[in-house]
Amino acid sequence: MEIRTLTPGDAAAEARLMAGAFEGGKRPAPTEESAKENAKTEPSSKTLGIFDGTRLVAAATIHDLHLVWGEDEVPMGGIAGVACVADQRGRGHVARLLREALGSMRESGQCLSGLYPFSFDFYKKHGWEWVGEKREYTLPTTLLQAASEGKSVRCYEGPEALEIVRPVYDLFARHHRGMATRRDPVPNFWDKALAHRDDRTTYVQVYHDPASGDAEGYLTFRYPDDGDTGQVGEFFANSPAAYRGLLSVLHYYGTQVAKVQFSTPADDPLPLFVMHWDLETKARPLFMGRIVDVAAAFSALRPDPALAGKIILQVADGQCEWNTRSFEITLEAGRISVAPTTSVPGITIDIQALTQAYWGQPALERLRAAGRIAVSEEPQYLLLSQLLTPSICYLQDYF
Ligand SMILES: CC(C)(COP(=O)(O)OP(=O)(O)OC[C@H]1O[C@@H](n2cnc3c(N)ncnc32)[C@H](O)[C@@H]1OP(=O)(O)O)[C@@H](O)C(=O)NCCC(=O)NCCS
Repeated sequence: MEIRTLTPGDAAAEARLMAGAFEGGKRPAPTEESAKENAKTEPSSKTLGIFDGTRLVAAATIHDLHLVWGEDEVPMGGIAGVACVADQRGRGHVARLLREALGSMRESGQCLSGLYPFSFDFYKKHGWEWVGEKREYTLPTTLLQAASEGKSVRCYEGPEALEIVRPVYDLFARHHRGMATRRDPVPNFWDKALAHRDDRTTYVQVYHDPASGDAEGYLTFRYPDDGDTGQVGEFFANSPAAYRGLLSVLHYYGTQVAKVQFSTPADDPLPLFVMHWDLETKARPLFMGRIVDVAAAFSALRPDPALAGKIILQVADGQCEWNTRSFEITLEAGRISVAPTTSVPGITIDIQALTQAYWGQPALERLRAAGRIAVSEEPQYLLLSQLLTPSICYLQDYF
């Protein structure tokens, strides 16, 4: 069976495949087909397909995305739209597509990959692993009180808020590893965050510092289609005053909604402002990550200039033979170099655990405590743990 990149001419077949896989067989509208055609001409995403003769039987899309990594950015292939027609499942089509996608991402310089899985086990077999932890709150509005900072919150409607909230997001992202830069054209995450949808307004509540007028935090709020729970799509506060101001606005929504739901990174301070038995908090993984290219991923790091020494790291990767080897990682004066080696490894790790340690949540230390890595040289482990630092990760955007 042929495997190739889809072209605009494949849009109708792809729309049918996606409708069967994700929309219960709903007949695709012509506008959806033309949207797919437009996406095909967009160089920042590419879809691989497997054909049985002329019939498209399986597909997977790679979005060219970038993640914020402290002061830097790391390229990531965001995998989406993974699907196979029902009669062809269980024949390894998607396994083949994922292998092809890994090679393609490597060639494009996407040293990391990420995806939202239907099953963690399925993608784990292909080298992806869960990374990052988030909290999902369901917060009764009766637990919230008015705060004086609420008077510094101003409401904008949807996209008109973009230029005001973008710097708030950017600053928040610098402190939470792995958030999307939101500068890649496809998917347009800002549009998803701020656009009005389903004939409903997206309200953007922004806290402005009263002295400088600068935006320091914002949330997006949508009334529910039914039920009593308001949806807070984004909640980013860069100061305690902003946090209190935004909670105050949610208090006033309490005349209309009994609860609000929102997600935050694991270091979110809500429990320091509100604590009650009725506050529901779920701990969830963010998504699944994967190091596509170990050498390129390490080379993308900017180590502390104080770190110096060598690590011999042996990696096992069932899909990517370019990762299955020992690497000599040398740190010196803020520079890092990575080269294959035949020296005896000080640390042995599989690609899933290495991916988690690279994101930094769960941290290398937790992985070691869980028996996920083998260490024979303690100084090398110490150096690796100083290079792959623990982090609070976050990712708001779905693709
Ligand atoms: C998931 C899907 C993409 C797999 O496609 P596929 O071509 O059958 O995949 P492969 O042949 O490479 O792998 C098949 C294996 O996947 C696993 N798998 C399939 N369905 C699964 C399920 N519901 N839960 C867990 N694992 C599953 C099994 O291990 C299966 O092996 P088996 O044939 O021995 O049972 C396909 O079932 C599909 O299109 N589903 C609907 C859309 C969807 O959920 N996409 C994933 C979005 S993240």
